[in-house]
Amino acid sequence: MTYQNDLIIRTAKGEPTERTPVWLMRQAGRILKEYRELRSTLSGFKELVETPHLAAEVTIQPVDLLNVDAAIIFSDILVVPEAMGLTYEMIEKKGPHFPETIETENDLNKLIIPDPYEGLEYTLEAIKITKKELDGRVPIIGFAGAPWTIFSYMIEGGGSKTFSKAKKMLYVNPTLSHKLLEMITQTTIKYLKAQTECGAEIVQLFDSWAGILSEEQYKEFALPYISKICDSIDEVPVTVFAKGAYFMRKEMGKLNCRTIGLDWNMDPILSRELIGPEKTLQGNLDPCVLYSDFKTIEQKTKEMLEKFKGHSHIANLGHGVYPDISPDAVRCFIDTVKAF
Ligand code: CP3
Repeated sequence: MTYQNDLIIRTAKGEPTERTPVWLMRQAGRILKEYRELRSTLSGFKELVETPHLAAEVTIQPVDLLNVDAAIIFSDILVVPEAMGLTYEMIEKKGPHFPETIETENDLNKLIIPDPYEGLEYTLEAIKITKKELDGRVPIIGFAGAPWTIFSYMIEGGGSKTFSKAKKMLYVNPTLSHKLLEMITQTTIKYLKAQTECGAEIVQLFDSWAGILSEEQYKEFALPYISKICDSIDEVPVTVFAKGAYFMRKEMGKLNCRTIGLDWNMDPILSRELIGPEKTLQGNLDPCVLYSDFKTIEQKTKEMLEKFKGHSHIANLGHGVYPDISPDAVRCFIDTVKAF
């Protein structure tokens, strides 16, 4: 495949490029009225995720409408626990809910490590369609949740402020915890490999609830599984984004991956010192900056870019873009990066 724009791949690999590539976490869906229009014709979020040609359409929307340098496949991290045997519901204005959760060894024994071409074929098909329709305009980013974040949904049954049920399981039943984390890891490796076979050019692991764990717990229950996934994927560059895990940056630098994502609390200069010169860094503008006027957005974006200067950098926000942020503010951020 020859790309018209392969900036993000070259940057991820640490090669010098003409400019900094830019995309936004959660760019597909959420902020675009074109997304909401399509979404309103359907029964819900899951129908969109599970209908490959529609998922492909929503994946390409931000490439057309925002001019980003990569497309992230429209899906969710929760498709993995579902394929393992725990179905989820996406409740309007509330978020995900799992009617059944994992509490005992018996619950665990009902789970499977699925063949992604059977349990997750809809997302793989969406990647294939997107690949064909993009025709090399920009690369496709595949993704999955990191094992700890997926584990926390499977134990907790939904979102939480403290994730205390999931953390409790780590203390009370470490054996069961490790068994489940290992199953999620095996599923994720197979799933990410399948994504690359179908056309994903970069893959990202989202450890959204990394910051909930103590350093000690992260070292025992999160990092080893991320490390295993990184060691298993050599097809494409891997990005690890562990939100809130500022205490793990030195260790992140030693992972067998190409890019480390930073949230807005991780200073780019200190992070570079801790992570080392080799890795590409991704991030890290506070999404809330995009609520301010264009002049402020431009200024804050430039300040961020200055801090990353001199090493490989993929511009992004420090977490996903919020649903009520205006697409024009997002365009201002993107245009500022491109002009820098
Ligand atoms: O980045 C993208 O635009 C690609 C698609 C994508 C979605 N979810 C679509 C989605 C990606 C990469 C995700 C990842 C995801 N999902 C994460 C990790 C990233 C992060 O933000 O930390 C997490 C924790 C989830 C779980 C999840 N899915 C929650 C908590 C919710 C409800 C609240 C919300 O909007 O985030 C979802 C639903 C969801 N996933 C929506 C979209 C577009 C909104 C649902 C709708 O349209 O009704």
